[in-house]
Amino acid sequence: MNGFPALDLDPFDEGFLADPYLQHPQLRDAGPVVWLESIGCFAMARHAEVQAALKDWQTYVSGRGVGLADFSREEPFRPPSLLLEVDPPLHDRTRGLMNKVTSLAGLRAGMPLWRDKASALVARLLEGGHIDAVADLGEAYPLSVFPDLIGLRDNGREHLIPYGTTVFNAFGPRNRILEEGIAAAGEAIAWVNESCQRQHLKPHGWGMQVYEAADRGDCTPAEAERLVRSFLSAGVDTTVNGLANLVLALAQNPDQWVLLRADPTLGKKAFEESLRWGGVIQTFFRTTSRSVDIAGGMIPKGSKVLLFLAAANRDPRRWDNPDAFDIARNTSGHVGFGFGIHQCLGQMVARLEAEAVLDALVAQVAEIRPSALPTFRLNNTLRALAHVPVQLIAAGGECGKAARFPTRSAERRFGLHPQQAAQFGIIIAVKQHKTDPRHGCAAVFPTVIGAHLHHDIARRKGSFAFFHHQRQFAFDHDPEIDRFGPVHKGVLPVLLWRHGIF
Ligand code: HEM
Repeated sequence: MNGFPALDLDPFDEGFLADPYLQHPQLRDAGPVVWLESIGCFAMARHAEVQAALKDWQTYVSGRGVGLADFSREEPFRPPSLLLEVDPPLHDRTRGLMNKVTSLAGLRAGMPLWRDKASALVARLLEGGHIDAVADLGEAYPLSVFPDLIGLRDNGREHLIPYGTTVFNAFGPRNRILEEGIAAAGEAIAWVNESCQRQHLKPHGWGMQVYEAADRGDCTPAEAERLVRSFLSAGVDTTVNGLANLVLALAQNPDQWVLLRADPTLGKKAFEESLRWGGVIQTFFRTTSRSVDIAGGMIPKGSKVLLFLAAANRDPRRWDNPDAFDIARNTSGHVGFGFGIHQCLGQMVARLEAEAVLDALVAQVAEIRPSALPTFRLNNTLRALAHVPVQLIAAGGECGKAARFPTRSAERRFGLHPQQAAQFGIIIAVKQHKTDPRHGCAAVFPTVIGAHLHHDIARRKGSFAFFHHQRQFAFDHDPEIDRFGPVHKGVLPVLLWRHGIF
């Protein structure tokens, strides 16, 4: 009819939402643009088209809602967001104002506290070992830092999660998932609406800073209230699922966890890759502001177009081996935070939360073992996790204690961050190679100048890391080591040799 392949597939059907990734290949392979009869909408699921549509805000507008409802015809369930659901020039004004409030410098200043909180939380979780990465970490951590960043009142912060869930459900149709969500979230919606009012906000938080912008004439007080609400709508359920999804990815891919522990600077890439791999936000809509001649068909003016962000992030036309979680991958261009003018306002909040949590995990946890299959909550927009049961195994090394090289010394000698140092049971510095006369000149044995040994090395649990000039190596516990009795400097060159490092 419109020149595009039609698919008999309902993206808001509970079966589809239970595992969207099963149906993504069908959506992508059908063509660059498809017609979804079930909801009477066009859809794009390939990376090239999704990214181009997100970028082309003049053609694919947000002002008629980024959900299924068309605001030109239907009343939204709440007054539209002044960021997400508006177009320029209004969007330029509100986004410019909010960019100033959410400055990176301010966020970085708060990082030491965020790190301490993450570290204390992980230490607490290790006491029991068995955790649900959704409730115990995904929810617990953002709730311990985000409401303070905004300056929210203390009582009732738990309402933020059901509120966020409802907001994201409301981008879909009025199905059972949304109806039940709204019915359960009545109190949460009222609490959030009240919390955005000036008199409920603490001084110095981002919330109050938006009102101060209103005092300067950058927006009206009524707009300020709605802008503060944007933080609360978009800033909690996203990070809850983002963190839980990150832990899930690392638990299901232990090789990637080993890689990350060997080189904690990969943490930033690991979080981006987790967003590409397990898209927290699965879809958003746009509405066409004109007829669009595309891929051999015509999308009429005023049509809703469903953009499958998560399918685009696993499009084999764009990514090699797209279903693999690979923290060394170049993820630039992923659309997990969107793309173009509406790209996530809070992405640095999400990234810094993830950085603090990952650094704490890397420093204290040797292994993240899945203890049961994860379960999901059905949501019309989010890939929402219900439970991620895992067991955290404590790292063997506490280099600060009983170490031959105290942590500070490790830092000084090898340019090693104390948190990096703390993650390994043994750290060895290698000064030079000596030719081994028994093996001829090709064979070299390193001269070990010092070993940083964990006091409980008899358990030999930790990984091993070797530092040699600028090069770093790491590998897991080697059972062969048991043959040597207590670890001492003499046996370490043999280990290096066995692992082909020298
Ligand atoms: C892992 C966590 C997060 C993910 C995956 C995520 C994802 C997204 C995506 C995909 C968009 C684009 C929407 C569109 O194009 O229509 C977006 C926009 C937005 N996000 Fe996030 N987000 C996250 C965290 C946050 C946080 C922590 C905040 C608040 C501090 C936030 C606030 C916003 C706002 C206000 C917008 C609208 C921006 C605009 O339209 O100009 N997000 N986010």
